[in-house]
Amino acid sequence: MTDRIAPRPTARRQGTYGVDAPYIPALYGAMGIGLLAWGIVWLTGHGLTSALGALVFGCLMLVSAGLYLYVTRRGKFVVWEGLLDGLALRGDEHVLDLGCGRGAVLLAAARRLPEGRVHGVDLWRGQDQSGNDPAVTRSNAQAEGVADRVELHTADMTQLPFQDGEFDVIISSLAIHNIPDAAGRTSAIEEAVRVLRPGGRLVVADIRHTRQYGADLQRLGMRDITRRGVGARMWWSGPWMPTTVVSAVKPS
Ligand SMILES: C[S@@+](CC[C@H](N)C(=O)[O-])C[C@H]1O[C@@H](n2cnc3c(N)ncnc32)[C@H](O)[C@@H]1O
Repeated sequence: MTDRIAPRPTARRQGTYGVDAPYIPALYGAMGIGLLAWGIVWLTGHGLTSALGALVFGCLMLVSAGLYLYVTRRGKFVVWEGLLDGLALRGDEHVLDLGCGRGAVLLAAARRLPEGRVHGVDLWRGQDQSGNDPAVTRSNAQAEGVADRVELHTADMTQLPFQDGEFDVIISSLAIHNIPDAAGRTSAIEEAVRVLRPGGRLVVADIRHTRQYGADLQRLGMRDITRRGVGARMWWSGPWMPTTVVSAVKPS
């Protein structure tokens, strides 16, 4: 094993990565347009004062839709580049992405692993990401030039089809909160810890339940647990929906 660090990839993205939970920006957009239209009609009949609320909320909804689309199309990629840089990967690790979807984070990791492997686990739910399909992720891997080091698995992250201690690094982006019940989310964290090798690292970014992930990791004996916000680049529609990153190391 060497102590070299894989160079930070600078290439532009070549794949297409869809929109996370696409019904949310669609709803914001539709509500914004509806409120603005209603406000304009009301303005002509009743004057500005009584139409102001609808006009202001309509504009806010459209700004929220715009912010959401920025995060899903660009912000999360920038943030994850930083998180992956922070892992200072050597380039030969085995990495597992829980809920990889179309591969936004999976393939960013793969670009850093010329001699390693990335495994993506997913149930390919269209309501969680538009056009979610393993064929799309595979074609993105081809487009990014990393298909030789990518393996996809159709599996539930609460029951991972891997041996104990198989992975050097576990990552997960905006996926664990999609498990509807608390027991299921705890199972996902337990499974992540199980398949991580001693000394391996875990990085989870999510919009909800991150305090619970931290508590679960503590109970499971993980060390160096941190929990921090990643800032406005991952505010999903506004500061009321921020993203938090939990990281931890499995004791050797
Ligand atoms: C919002 S998408 C994020 C995808 C990707 N991580 C990204 O950041 O672009 C959440 C993903 O989690 C997957 N997912 C939801 N529940 C899952 C489960 N129990 N097991 C595996 N994947 C799951 C969905 O199918 C979806 O691809």
